[in-house]
Amino acid sequence: MAVDPLPSFPPGFLWGASTSAHQIEGAAHLRGQSVWDVFEARPGAIRDGSTAAVACDSFHRHREDVALLAGLGVNAYRFSVSWPRAGSPGGLEYYERLVDDLLAAGVRPVPTLFHWELPAGLDWLERDTAARFADHVERVAARLGDRVSTWITLNEPAEHTILGHALGVHAPGRTLMFDALPAAHHQLLAHGLAVRALRAAGATDVGIAASHSPTWPLSAREEDVAAAEFYDVLMNRTFSDPLLLGRYPDGLAELMPGDVDADLETVSERLDFYGVNYYAPSLVGAPTGENSAYGTLDVPAGIPFSLHEIEGRPKTHFGWPVVPEGLTETLTGLRGRYGDRLPPVVITENGCSYPGLDDQDRIAFLDSHLRALHRAIEEGVDVRGWFVWSLLDNYEWNEGYEQRFGLVHVDFDSPERTRTPKASYAWLRDVLRAQP
Ligand code: BGC
Repeated sequence: MAVDPLPSFPPGFLWGASTSAHQIEGAAHLRGQSVWDVFEARPGAIRDGSTAAVACDSFHRHREDVALLAGLGVNAYRFSVSWPRAGSPGGLEYYERLVDDLLAAGVRPVPTLFHWELPAGLDWLERDTAARFADHVERVAARLGDRVSTWITLNEPAEHTILGHALGVHAPGRTLMFDALPAAHHQLLAHGLAVRALRAAGATDVGIAASHSPTWPLSAREEDVAAAEFYDVLMNRTFSDPLLLGRYPDGLAELMPGDVDADLETVSERLDFYGVNYYAPSLVGAPTGENSAYGTLDVPAGIPFSLHEIEGRPKTHFGWPVVPEGLTETLTGLRGRYGDRLPPVVITENGCSYPGLDDQDRIAFLDSHLRALHRAIEEGVDVRGWFVWSLLDNYEWNEGYEQRFGLVHVDFDSPERTRTPKASYAWLRDVLRAQP
């Protein structure tokens, strides 16, 4: 464990923890079905064969979660409003209770309005889904807008497009490869419509949570550099360029449906903050014809790049390399590329999967990443907050319950879903107490 105290972060910095509805709420019988419920029923879709029907049971135990947040000393909590729950009887009341309890505990509620749990029957390949999302956002804002000031529209449209629609390892389980691009465009459009709906409801602090992975070429060879650039476009810039510049990277607009130019004006509505989810860089080379696996992303032969293991680094339980300077690089890279078009940044997710209660590796991970974040601030990036992923061990999508990202252990075998703070919880609490 590092002994040097962490540097001080700017006054007013948001210190938060993140979760998402499908991953923690449970109480699946009290809400409509989502594409994830349908996907989980497919044999072999989820590594441990589990479902999120109960998960951490936060729907019934949110008060325990709020008490854990208060004990941790964070001043913000990023959770998501499940679209199928918000549309079910009693759903919005649940989020009202959660928001009220957070406010009473002095924790700012930061709801995400879409974290992958699309209502079953809707489809991101359909343009109309964007308008339906705007309706959902309007309803939620009408109910919570008097108490919520900070909103996040979508979580990681890149992963939802690529894992869910191109590769089929996430819900809805489609394997469309490049034909998945319309799902990206419609999510981006949905984001822009949501920004407008939130502003119309009086919101003044609106952002998105976008994943960013700095892309490293395998070598200086021309083919590796070109492959890495292609991967960077696909994973990062297909989303950040339209959001922040109002245009797609070269060659992509032609592949998108509808009146793309008109849509891009909506997509690039001004944001109050840009949320970045950071886990690790990607090492990319020319295609090899072999699969090279990185986390859940298994790339079949025929794709114009190959993914490679970053060697010489510790690995998380998920097998992801621990590369804190990748966070500094992500942020200085965003500032370099987007300049004044980049709003203030909030790290909306950053964390790691490790087993055990005495999670010294998680402490080392978080310590090194907070230092890397501070370095980006010293280099002039306007960073306003950092949210750890995650408060609780939870349903890690197609990995089921095998990957534990929480500061708090959850016993998924106990009916009470007993929560036990890990060593990292105490560590972060002490870090926050020492902040100005
Ligand atoms: C997602 C989370 C997920 C985390 C760890 C992010 O891509 O937003 O829902 O649990 O990564 O895999």
